Amino acid sequence: MSEMNQKPLVEIRDLKKYFDINVGMFKTLPLKAVDGVSFDIYRGETVGLVGESGCGKTTVGRTLLHLYTPTSGQIIYDGKEIKTPADIHDFRKKATMVFQDPYSSLNPRMTVSDIIAEPLDIHKMYSSPEERRQKVLELMEHVGLNSEHASRYAHEFSGGQRQRIGIARSLAVNPEFIVCDEPVSALDVSIQAQVINMFGELQDKLGLTYLFIAHDLLVVRHISSRIAVMYLGKIVELTSAAEIYERPLHPYSKALMSAVPMPDPKIARESHRIPLSGDIPSPLHAPSGCPFRTRCAYACERCAMEVPEFREIEKDHFVACHRVEEIN
Ligand SMILES: Nc1ncnc2c1ncn2[C@@H]1O[C@H](COP(=O)(O)OP(=O)(O)O)[C@@H](O)[C@H]1O
Ligand code: SF4
Ligand SMILES: [Mg+2]
Repeated sequence: MSEMNQKPLVEIRDLKKYFDINVGMFKTLPLKAVDGVSFDIYRGETVGLVGESGCGKTTVGRTLLHLYTPTSGQIIYDGKEIKTPADIHDFRKKATMVFQDPYSSLNPRMTVSDIIAEPLDIHKMYSSPEERRQKVLELMEHVGLNSEHASRYAHEFSGGQRQRIGIARSLAVNPEFIVCDEPVSALDVSIQAQVINMFGELQDKLGLTYLFIAHDLLVVRHISSRIAVMYLGKIVELTSAAEIYERPLHPYSKALMSAVPMPDPKIARESHRIPLSGDIPSPLHAPSGCPFRTRCAYACERCAMEVPEFREIEKDHFVACHRVEEIN
């Protein structure tokens, strides 16, 4: 991949985000929502981040944007670590987020125009009301919204239209990098593809870089250059989108992949179906050793003793599993 020869735009190093949870009088336990995540995102690419609900995807997105203060670890953007309040303030103009739920993330009592212009107002990014108006219209055009809608209220729109309003708002500060947090999960299946295509077109037109979060592997398949699979606060596998679909190596990725309907019956027959049994454990009581061991058909004694290292098994293919060579 050509991007991979460059320097990464975003470098995430051993990122942890723990939440203190009250579990009784004066007693708290750390909920390890993100527990030592490291990966890079190259300029112009889309990294898909997938995993079951509750595995920590949103927390990765929010922490890497400093919407949550990291418990530990580093976030390096364009070669510079984001640390001080001044770094974070500048970073907010370059990196932004599109939220999952277009119903609750937009104020229903604001006009479309004011919603989209709010980041422009905050960052004082215009010199006259006319310039503000022009910028809003340009942003609406980018996302395929009719300019006549500018003075209407968010609650008058459908889910798909609202998500377009949310995207226009995220684009207002001219960001380079966007965390897209399940931006189509709340939408009708019939319009999901349209909105995903729009993300692709915007990426080409504006040179954007995405971290694209989804719980559904099918959603990220076409938009992602690489895919990271997350389980209970950790990334268990990271490789190119093609590789993760054709040759997943981690037992959890294999199980996720075998749940994806295969349009080609030949591939469907050849792929060994691995059912994923049981629920994801609570991150308050994560298993010792490998986090996946309570659901893994290959778990052995070592898996309970040692946390598997996230290592490069083949070029650009990272997996965290003690037995990966044996079982593939
Ligand atoms: N603000 C918070 N306070 C306490 N626990 C949280 C908070 N946000 C998320 N969590 C917990 O962290 C874990 C990961 O959540 P989340 O990042 O939302 O997962 P995902 O986006 O993959 O569904 C879950 O167990 C969730 O309950
Ligand atoms: S380390 Fe052990 S329990 Fe974890 S995925 Fe590999 S084989 Fe399964
Ligand atoms: Mg989430």
